[in-house]
Amino acid sequence: MGTYELIVYGCQMNDYDGEKLAGIMEEAGYRPAPPGDIADVVLVYTCAVRESATTRALGRITSLARYKKHKADSVIGVGGCWPAVEKEVIESSCPHVDFTFGTTNLEDVPATVAGIRGQAASPLPDEIRLRRAAWPRANVSIMRGCNNFCAYCVVPYARGPEVCRPVDDVLHEVEELVGTGFKDITLIGQNVNSYRHGGTSFAELLLKADALCDGVFLRFTTNHPRDVNDETVAALGRCRNVARHLHLPLQSGSDAVLRAMNRDYDVSRYLDVVSKVRKAVPGICLTTDILVGFPGETEDDFEATLGVVERVRYDSAYVFMYSPRAGTAAAALADDVPRPEKVRRLQTVGARQRAIALEINEKMVGSEKLALVEGPSRKNAGEYAGRLSENKIVNFAGRARPGEFVRLEITGASSWTLRGEPAP
Ligand code: 5AD
Ligand code: SF4
Repeated sequence: MGTYELIVYGCQMNDYDGEKLAGIMEEAGYRPAPPGDIADVVLVYTCAVRESATTRALGRITSLARYKKHKADSVIGVGGCWPAVEKEVIESSCPHVDFTFGTTNLEDVPATVAGIRGQAASPLPDEIRLRRAAWPRANVSIMRGCNNFCAYCVVPYARGPEVCRPVDDVLHEVEELVGTGFKDITLIGQNVNSYRHGGTSFAELLLKADALCDGVFLRFTTNHPRDVNDETVAALGRCRNVARHLHLPLQSGSDAVLRAMNRDYDVSRYLDVVSKVRKAVPGICLTTDILVGFPGETEDDFEATLGVVERVRYDSAYVFMYSPRAGTAAAALADDVPRPEKVRRLQTVGARQRAIALEINEKMVGSEKLALVEGPSRKNAGEYAGRLSENKIVNFAGRARPGEFVRLEITGASSWTLRGEPAP
């Protein structure tokens, strides 16, 4: 059939879809294009959560026009969240794009490509094997879509309503990954805490997956503070293999802004979840998402967010500047925080968070930790990178094999990563 190239942007769900799409293309007879070659089929799988994500994708898609100059019959397809919500924008600004597709019906891509190339489509098997791209780590989707309609968020429009996957399908995939040597498995969904299938809750699913994951880090993301209930907290305390890390998006530390965002919790409820989780799993690492510059966010609102950052003391935080997304409730509001002020808030909370993270990480120096060796260090040539249960990266020198667990003594710390050496 020829070769394909796949370019994936965005969240873990997109990575998962990308692995599925690669599996589909290979089942259809395509093989990955060698580096440097122009593939017969080029697929870009996009994110639309922020304006910066679509700007980046647009840059890449635009640059693909030169592919057609060198190879007129190459087929270019753009999929994922962006065409799911703004197909017309891509079609009108990128005439060299042959087709668009959304986040469902990935199985139809080979037939669409075959149609464009004037070829007959070959049938696909019922079950598609994902082409896993991040060994020894792997994601397992437990649900797709989202019902929450946070005022700023495009996801419910791009991915549709929440659909949970049957328990047995999830557990089967986890078991298969463990059996084939994966060591760090993340259950993913837009709001895993609202998982429910045939009477099984997220907490029950987590306990069942935990039982299959001896010798493996089991993770889950992303969480909605409203839906992290006592049952889930209790399960966290009972699981033996669930990693010591919880990503708990705060978005804002102001009740007024949380209300305007339609987040459905207030700061006191959020802090209550934090203290229950910390009680159930002492020393658990907490990370978060913070959105600054939401319409109407005042200086006082922003100070309230800083207050929660000080109070919770996150291990790390992703901070974003609000950008309006077409079709969302907030897009109808005036985007009234001036950009320089958004930048200032982003930098202020970022700087405070970096200082807190450094203090937390420095306290780990001298301790001994179990790390999963992921591969060569991205920072230091000749070194390895390991990941802790706490989801922190430790760079270390010495002999190691990717996919193995090693004991490391933590010898140094920055805001982002740790340094270590093999423990004697
Ligand atoms: N603008 C900026 N950030 C956004 N996020 C979601 N929508 C927007 C938007 N319109 C952020 C939220 C979410 C993370 C994945 O992206 O903080 O948790
Ligand atoms: Fe967006 Fe809210 Fe759904 Fe997360 S839970 S994807 S923030 S709508």
